[in-house]
Amino acid sequence: MNIHTYEKVWLVAAMVLIVGFIGTIAYGSTGVGIAMISDDEETIDPNALDDDERFADPRVEQVGENEYEVYVVAYQFGFDPGSEQITEPIVVPENSEVTFYVTSEDVIHSFSLVGTNVNTMVVPGEVSTMRVEFDEPAEYGILCNEYCGAGHHSMEGMLYVVPEDEFDIDEQDDESEGDRDEATQNTEEPAGEDE
Ligand code: CUA
Repeated sequence: MNIHTYEKVWLVAAMVLIVGFIGTIAYGSTGVGIAMISDDEETIDPNALDDDERFADPRVEQVGENEYEVYVVAYQFGFDPGSEQITEPIVVPENSEVTFYVTSEDVIHSFSLVGTNVNTMVVPGEVSTMRVEFDEPAEYGILCNEYCGAGHHSMEGMLYVVPEDEFDIDEQDDESEGDRDEATQNTEEPAGEDE
């Protein structure tokens, strides 16, 4: 059988493309920094977060010289800490290694730092864990990108990475300025603003 040279070239090109596409999908789903919320970790009771030592008082905690742990509760519709209008923003210093532990007290949300690859689903009963290094001062928006109800579009927060000399862990120990339970009730008032 005689195959025209151009046809051979395009056959090979098509093969290379197919292998390439499979390769990028395989890398994209298993590559560095991508993981599923662990199935092996212990689950937690989303209705009893107040009894859990990590999430009863969501907070930023210093655990080493440049190491911090941040415990965040996602709820309809905000992050505690994170949503600065309702509770307080998250503040960490530059040159730090921060591990985020995020859980939900109601429905499935997500926790995403805008403009970065920090992005996880937040599932009631599961604790999503991510370690992130912050090298320089920056501001990141926090967004929920799983549709979670009428106020989904308003579910947002802020993460501030501040210069080391401006960071004071003691300020972080303050009680939340607001109460997420009150905030939750407010969103149940007759709708009208929601679009
Ligand atoms: Cu929470 Cu969308």
